[in-house]
Amino acid sequence: MVKILGLSGSLRAASVNTAMLNAMAQVAQEGIHFSLYADLASVPLFNPDLEGHEAPSVHALRAALREADAVVIASPEYAHGVTGVIKNALDWIVGSGELVDKPVGLLIASSRSLYAPEALRKTLVVMGAQVVEGAYLAVPINNSHASDADILAIPDAVAVLLDVLDVLAAAVQARSETAPLEA
Ligand SMILES: Cc1cc2nc3c(=O)[nH]c(=O)nc-3n(C[C@H](O)[C@H](O)[C@H](O)COP(=O)(O)O)c2cc1C
Repeated sequence: MVKILGLSGSLRAASVNTAMLNAMAQVAQEGIHFSLYADLASVPLFNPDLEGHEAPSVHALRAALREADAVVIASPEYAHGVTGVIKNALDWIVGSGELVDKPVGLLIASSRSLYAPEALRKTLVVMGAQVVEGAYLAVPINNSHASDADILAIPDAVAVLLDVLDVLAAAVQARSETAPLEA
């Protein structure tokens, strides 16, 4: 079983990016367990002075990322930049390293966002994540009110979500085949 964790960069209750991750959970095929991390709102603002004394919500985020074989981030663009929600979550794991060598997919539920995807990709790369080619995509939704049911009714979007899950599962498999044997 490949465990894939979704992180949404939007806290909006009707977020299309969150809806897309919920749709992903519903299309995940046998052999893939996809779950959405539901508690990014409780992660405090990053402060290096708090490292070693982190809030329980930071430990919970790190543990969930450690347990995941791969991660999918779906996030909107705010003012041509990465949302504070996702950047804050990532800042907490720069030092602890949960994404190092981990296959990561990066999705944006819009084809109009031209700046944040590349900025987020660069951040993930410098953190040591393996941003997987074929899982770094704009998903053709372009409807800021789409629910998960609406997304599941868009064949092109479902095809992208299925592809991303397959590509990530393959990256996890390839990683396990090349990982050094534990002593
Ligand atoms: C503060 C703010 C800034 C935004 N800036 C951009 C932007 O620079 N580029 C863009 O394509 N969309 C921008 N948008 C539109 C969002 O991408 C769009 O509303 C998207 O649906 C939000 O994602 P969500 O539905 O997951 O919350 C912005 C929205 C907000 C609220």
